[in-house]
Amino acid sequence: MKTTAIIGGSGLTQIESINIIDQKHFQTPYGAPSSACTIGEFSGQTIIFLARHGNPHTIAPHKINYRANLWALKEAGAEQIIAVAAVGGITPEMYPARIAIPEQIIDYSYGREHTYLASESAPVDHIDFSFPYHQSLREQLIHSAESLNINIQAKGVYGCTQGPRLETAAEILRMQRDGCDLVGMTGMPEAALARELKIPYACCAVIANWAAGKSAGEITMPEILINLEQGMAGTEQLLQHFLTHTSS
Ligand code: HPA
Repeated sequence: MKTTAIIGGSGLTQIESINIIDQKHFQTPYGAPSSACTIGEFSGQTIIFLARHGNPHTIAPHKINYRANLWALKEAGAEQIIAVAAVGGITPEMYPARIAIPEQIIDYSYGREHTYLASESAPVDHIDFSFPYHQSLREQLIHSAESLNINIQAKGVYGCTQGPRLETAAEILRMQRDGCDLVGMTGMPEAALARELKIPYACCAVIANWAAGKSAGEITMPEILINLEQGMAGTEQLLQHFLTHTSS
């Protein structure tokens, strides 16, 4: 099986059941990644785990050094990446604590270092990003969820906002008109950088809350944490199944 890297987001700063073999601290041409890469055994496979927001969870979405993170995972030997990310649910089927495997992205973030291809001396290059997530990796995750009877949404458009504030209700309505089903703050440039490095990448999105204006009350941290805990339990099961049953 390909060496799998898991990027853990809010609610998944570490995977308890990893049998840790090594912690690698990489320095990259782009600076330091958010955390050490944990090399460990999980469900009988060697995996690499990186905490996107650091461990402890201190790095805000717009401050994450995405280029260093993806570079470090490549150096550590990652051949495919599953990015776990907390999101808000916009459309009715994206309800809290549910998991979604999105298929598309709209990027509303700005000012982030978002490419490896911007060196002044290198010729201009344009990667194909029509389908930002790796289709076969998505299908394998969906298959694992189905085998386990985990109720997931096997599609969806992920809208990436800048954060760290949550959105206004009008911003969410605009995103919905654009076609977004989910809103998160870390999906980009992570997915595009993985594509530039030619590492298959898929997202396992855990819905932490209804997006702004989609429920009666305010969005509160306790609510987010409860839903994340539930969603992450399903995510860990899904990852275990994926690692145990996938041969490619
Ligand atoms: N908006 C943006 N990012 C998020 C949200 C949200 O409502 N919930 C979790 N991550």
